[in-house]
Amino acid sequence: MTVRPLVIAVDGPAAAGKGTLAKALAAKLGLPYLDTGLLYRAVARRMVNAGLDPAGDASAEAQALQQADLARTDLRVPEIDRGASLVAAQPAVRAALLERQRVFASETGAVVDGRDIGTVVFPDADVKFFITASPRTRALRRHHQVHGGTPLDEGALEAAVAEIVARDERDSSRETAPLVQAPDAILIETDTLSAAEVLDKACETVALRCARN
Ligand code: DC
Repeated sequence: MTVRPLVIAVDGPAAAGKGTLAKALAAKLGLPYLDTGLLYRAVARRMVNAGLDPAGDASAEAQALQQADLARTDLRVPEIDRGASLVAAQPAVRAALLERQRVFASETGAVVDGRDIGTVVFPDADVKFFITASPRTRALRRHHQVHGGTPLDEGALEAAVAEIVARDERDSSRETAPLVQAPDAILIETDTLSAAEVLDKACETVALRCARN
């Protein structure tokens, strides 16, 4: 009997708690974890380092990334938040990165987080989650991730909310692989949940799904 490796898709908008959940779920289940946002961020970083505008054609940079190691430095800065969202809207970039994502999970299974994992990359994933929270909650979380306990005044919070809403809009309205909840994905709204509560809910779902299959 061949046992198909378990693939779990975790999609949702920026700073909703996808990465936190996906990482914890992977550790709990002993599966590898892939943060696909890093791939788009690495393409944007290559563009910026070469002095190119990430809104321009990034297909050569995405091709180069099919094999290259992901440099993990300088990928989570505001310039690259925006750049990644711009290169991610380009169909040629998405096509170039697709195979790398599928190969990652092919032998061992994986927990994979992104925007189109349950809809495009792994439409047959064993379990799909869509993790979301209000723009305000997400802006506050992103601020705390980057700046720790430093308080955020109302004006800066409004600007951060506007930036998150603009990114959601770009990610959701693009033609290729937009951010959208797969019909068979389990929705978890994380506004009022701790990371541990989100993990508990997700583990219950995985246990139920695996018992059924
Ligand atoms: O998850 P993140 O913030 O690191 O993602 C960075 C950008 O990459 C985000 O604006 C959307 C895009 N992205 C995507 O289009 N598809 C994915 N599977 C992952 C990320």
